[in-house]
Amino acid sequence: MAEKHFKYVVLGGGVAAGYAAREFAKQGVKPGELAIISKEAVAPYERPALSKAYLFPEGAARLPGFHVCVGSGGERLPPEWYAEKGIELILNTEIVKADLASKTLTSASGASFKYDILIIATGSTVIRLSDFGVQGADSKNIFYLREIDDADKLVEAIKAKKNGKAVIVGGGYIGLELSAVMKINNFDVTMVYPEPWCMPRLFTAGIAAFYEGYYAKKGVKIIKGTVAVGFDSDANGEAVKLKDGRVLDADIVVVGVGGRPLTKLFKGQVEEEKGGIKTDGFFRTNVPDVYAVGDVATFPMKLYNEMRRVEHVDHARKSAEQAVKAIKASEEGKTIDEYDYLPYFYSRSFDLSWQFYGDNVGDTVLFGDSDPASPKPKFGSYWIKDGKIVGAFLESGTPDENKAIAKVARIQTPVESLDQLTKEGLTFACKI
Ligand code: FDA
Ligand code: NAD
Repeated sequence: MAEKHFKYVVLGGGVAAGYAAREFAKQGVKPGELAIISKEAVAPYERPALSKAYLFPEGAARLPGFHVCVGSGGERLPPEWYAEKGIELILNTEIVKADLASKTLTSASGASFKYDILIIATGSTVIRLSDFGVQGADSKNIFYLREIDDADKLVEAIKAKKNGKAVIVGGGYIGLELSAVMKINNFDVTMVYPEPWCMPRLFTAGIAAFYEGYYAKKGVKIIKGTVAVGFDSDANGEAVKLKDGRVLDADIVVVGVGGRPLTKLFKGQVEEEKGGIKTDGFFRTNVPDVYAVGDVATFPMKLYNEMRRVEHVDHARKSAEQAVKAIKASEEGKTIDEYDYLPYFYSRSFDLSWQFYGDNVGDTVLFGDSDPASPKPKFGSYWIKDGKIVGAFLESGTPDENKAIAKVARIQTPVESLDQLTKEGLTFACKI
């Protein structure tokens, strides 16, 4: 089998890979120097589209419409762009072995790729119910969503089971976004999750109450405090057995019970921390010439003086850019500033759209109109620690208002009275 050699290899063809390619092109890369190796069949795209517009019944997003870097307002990079720049896109190629000592990657079909500098951008994979031994969890009616192939299978099932019943397992990002989009597709939707409220890793009870109320108003049924323990399938679909004894009928089951960073190729070869590959503020690992970015990286979050891993698109984009800038600077004997990241997460469902900046620790206040029955609800939350705002959440903010909440979370504006903050609400951030 032929062996290929590149100066730079990005392993993974997702969000971080696409933004890394653009940064390489900006900084200057010669034809043949850079390769992106991906097990997916398509050039890097904005993964968030898969749980949103990709699944719309009408006017659905399709490639090439959402190749990177359109998600951050940039120019779209279709496959031709890589060809023009002499960046090799090696698609449909799964790397099954990585030998960091000899700087060699080996694909499932036995091809070898050598590199001088490697950027690991393998992202996450889904946690499967079969991982916990849930009975019948490998049924063909059960869907997961990570890559475009998964989304295509779901689109086919939505068409085949028109106006059917969907059970959504999990109350996190996938759970909330998929429940909404299945409802938009006119499915009868039931969400099931173990916690007392949805999205507990970010939402307070007050925030969650709004979304649960809004979803109920849209006709989504919510079953909390229990889990799916087994599935029985027959020609009519799936019987979803819950731990509390209830059984739900479903034509389609979508599972979103979390992600797991894809680090296993590198086990024992690179230092890990908090489930990810440990890096410094330039995304360098402890192995010379090996970088890790996006979902797989555990990096120093300067703002909180703590090592963190972030599974969101904004960080995937920015960490990739930072790593490429650092690589290019070091080649020229220069240095750049350390990564100084302000966490930014967002989601959209139905006609709702929220943004969150900062850290969700400490006391919280809820402000604004969070009544799901209101014609135009608009509300938010602040998190306050040691007398300073450390996190801010806003539903239905304008671009300027979102900028304002980002600013208070970044500069950690001091707060004198929580009552006053509740009363002022968004005005507090907007006047800073
Ligand atoms: P990403 O998963 O994008 O890419 C990894 C790539 O590596 C894939 O192409 C994969 O095939 C490839 N790969 C892995 N192992 C390989 C191997 N051994 N050989 C070859 N290729 C390999 N975030 C957010 O902030 N807002 C949002 O709305 C959403 N929405 C959203 C929807 C859905 C459906 C998902 C799954 C995720 C989101 N996210 C999100 C999260 C966000 O998409 C995620 O954090 C980034 O895609 C991470 O970027 P990476 O490049 O690290 O991984
Ligand atoms: P998540 O971590 O957001 O949510 C997992 C949820 O699974 C938990 O909240 C819980 O409700 C549920 N759960 C856990 N164990 C369960 C069990 N045994 N039975 C039933 N429910 C159980 O993960 P996700 O929603 O699967 O998302 C996967 C990945 O994709 C994450 O990295 C996420 O950040 C990313 N993503 C992000 C966005 C966004 O940022 N808008 C959108 C979609 C996906």
